[in-house]
Amino acid sequence: MTGGDILDFERHLTPTPVPDAERESLLVNPGFGKVFTEHMVTVRYAESKGWYDARVEPFGPIPMSPATAVLHYAQEIFEGMKAYKTADGGVTLFRPDANAQRFATSARRMAMPEVPEDLFLKAITELVEVDRAWIPGGADSSLYLRPYMIATEVFLGVRPSAEYLFGVIACPVGAYFKGGPKPITLWISQEYTRAAPGGTGAAKCGGNYATSLVAQAEAMNNGCDQVVFLDAVERKYVDELGGMNIFFVYEDGTIITPPLGTILPGITRDSIIKLASEQGHKVIERPYSVDEWRADAASGTLKEAFACGTAAVITPIGTLKSADGGFTVGDPEAMGPVTHQLRTALIDIQQGKAADTHGWVRRVI
Ligand code: PLP
Ligand code: COI
Repeated sequence: MTGGDILDFERHLTPTPVPDAERESLLVNPGFGKVFTEHMVTVRYAESKGWYDARVEPFGPIPMSPATAVLHYAQEIFEGMKAYKTADGGVTLFRPDANAQRFATSARRMAMPEVPEDLFLKAITELVEVDRAWIPGGADSSLYLRPYMIATEVFLGVRPSAEYLFGVIACPVGAYFKGGPKPITLWISQEYTRAAPGGTGAAKCGGNYATSLVAQAEAMNNGCDQVVFLDAVERKYVDELGGMNIFFVYEDGTIITPPLGTILPGITRDSIIKLASEQGHKVIERPYSVDEWRADAASGTLKEAFACGTAAVITPIGTLKSADGGFTVGDPEAMGPVTHQLRTALIDIQQGKAADTHGWVRRVI
């Protein structure tokens, strides 16, 4: 969907820019989601006039009434994407059209207005332009962009809001997991589920993450990095992690990943399916049970498993724990060769080191 006339963004730049030396020191080891750039984008929506008042402003609080709809009924969606610095000083995005489309799909599911794709991309580009100095240059580093939309009508009735705010903020990031691409340990949640058929699992709405937190806390209490959710009907099949999709690599080269439906349709997932197929792997999207996972890890036919997403890129999975006991996959201390090959192929395209034969990389500066 395109928006016809794209709005012009008013730019109100910060009167107190962060000194270069301070910014450079913040970029050295930014972690994930802790350091924010100096600006943000906001665009307003009202049922009566559509999208209006597009601005780039200094990063800061958004004042709102305590009766604002999002604070009560969680009518909220978001996206996650990354901007990369190119060798010649330009800036690229990875499949931003796919993020724009998923944002629109999430909006429909949450009874929110769609942000036209060209407005979504312009909002991102505006922020990247004004804050380009905040894009870190290190190997695992990039500028993480967080588009979001919230219901802003001041009203406590339970119905879709008549007003919304679409915004974008950005943060320089390094590796999502502290250990970098070392294998992670997962907790298989048997008590909590993330998404049921007919629910919001395929939408990127904040509520999905709110309900995952108790399971994620349980995972961490059990010494794990992330939680794995099982299907809500049979509690048997692997859905996905709290913030990542999952893949299983077999000794004959076959790769299995859970099918779309109740999981988030990851853009990294989709890219990996394409890259792995091109590398000669047979990729099968089908329900995959924990019993199968455990048995094939024990027999050794399952060689590798990995998690993937914008934040996590591709991260190997080494050890599983659950209330029924644990098991390991392949060498639980090292990234397997197929995971490594796919990770390198993906990162090389994202960082402009390999030919972009799919048209995934969009140069914005
Ligand atoms: N699944 C969940 C629940 C996520 O939060 C994410 C991250 O965005 C993903 C999967 C991976 O999606 P993508 O590859 O588009 O970042
Ligand atoms: C992402 O990978 O972009 C995510 O949204 C995962 C998590 C940080 C919420």
